[in-house]
Amino acid sequence: MPDSTNTRAMPRDAALRERAAAVIPNGMYGHQNVHVLPDNFPQFFSRGEGAHIWDVDGNEYIDYLCSYGPILLGHAHPGVDRAAAAELETSDCLNGPGEKMVELAELLVDITPWADWAWFAKNGTDATVYAATVARAATGRGAILRAGGAYHGSAPTWMGLERGSPADGTIEYSYNDLASVRAAIDAADGDFAGLMVSAFKHDVFIDQEMPTQEFAQGVRDLCDAHGAVLILDDVRGGFRLDIRGSWAPLGVDPDLSAYCKAIGNGYPISALLGRDSLAKTVGRVMATGSYWYSSGPMAAAVATITTMQETSGIAHIHAMGERLRNGLADRAAAHGLAIRQTGPVEMPLLIFDADDADAKADLFTLLEVPRVRMFSAELAKRGVYMHPFHNGFLSAALTKEDIDHTIAAGDEAFAAVRAQFSDDPTPETN
Ligand SMILES: Cc1ncc(COP(=O)(O)O)c(C=O)c1O
Repeated sequence: MPDSTNTRAMPRDAALRERAAAVIPNGMYGHQNVHVLPDNFPQFFSRGEGAHIWDVDGNEYIDYLCSYGPILLGHAHPGVDRAAAAELETSDCLNGPGEKMVELAELLVDITPWADWAWFAKNGTDATVYAATVARAATGRGAILRAGGAYHGSAPTWMGLERGSPADGTIEYSYNDLASVRAAIDAADGDFAGLMVSAFKHDVFIDQEMPTQEFAQGVRDLCDAHGAVLILDDVRGGFRLDIRGSWAPLGVDPDLSAYCKAIGNGYPISALLGRDSLAKTVGRVMATGSYWYSSGPMAAAVATITTMQETSGIAHIHAMGERLRNGLADRAAAHGLAIRQTGPVEMPLLIFDADDADAKADLFTLLEVPRVRMFSAELAKRGVYMHPFHNGFLSAALTKEDIDHTIAAGDEAFAAVRAQFSDDPTPETN
């Protein structure tokens, strides 16, 4: 278990940050830049094993971010690493793919009841952008509907050319709001090509929401009525919530489904799954990349999925998630703090009610969410890595001991927040 008492000094991290600032814009790009995180969060890491990670200064943490999702079975999983290494030694980068591509496509089609084919790339963005392209090519129309605030990748298709500029050809609706979907279809004025929907609502700073049955079935019916393509963005939820796809429990099947993150337990691979009706379109719409055929990550994906099946990995993650959620709720209540934990227990988000007034929905500005910032900083001091405002990701390597260590650290962290914000109302007086 991580040491809860050490000073967690970070001299190597500081030196690397200084060197990085000289040769990398902002010292770091994208959401992995820690400038929005509490000061004691390390920028650089050296190692991961199971549910634990170590920063470059040797400080150990129980990991509740899992590399923003890819780590599903735990870091450096021996079975996955062996499977990938065997391919890397022989057939990783040749003039065409190895056998593993077919094996992985067969496995995905087999476990996904509605899917007839699979297509592979490297990043979630590759898959979501290509899904939109396929929807447009198949329908001969242009408009892609997407939920306001939802993240589908950092390409111009979703974010415009610059952050804040509207993406061409997309029209926004509100998650779980069918009336807004109908309004977006009207706004498309006969040009409705496809509807992109994430497995659940997971914008930063606001409560996560699971899709209602009515909403999921409603978007399916509206796409059918208009001859448009329903695209499930399962990049974030895929393989953590349900091996068949995150909407399988709802009984609502998409036409295309984009995966990345957890599929290869950290090896770079993404996938688009689809129905026969779109196979011809995919066959003619060119998309490729230098490393989209490498077999190491494909072998890793086969090993990840089969290991999850054989070990009931999702059930274990769910049980650990419930233990964590119940334990933290209990400790927060004991300190008279009003918190909300939303979204699936496998991918939790914790919000302090008293932070609501100040929260700003912008990942890249300095955030006025002092209680949750302090809470996560106090956790980090005690060897628990939990992002303050991005949903967490739990791995199958977590043990009850990890969870109980986290709840004990949470107890002390809540106490620190209570002491600092002693004027906050307690839940009883709310
Ligand atoms: C729902 C969703 N879609 C797409 C993406 C983009 O994936 P990638 O960062 O692999 O391009 C992400 C990444 O966080 C995501 O969460």
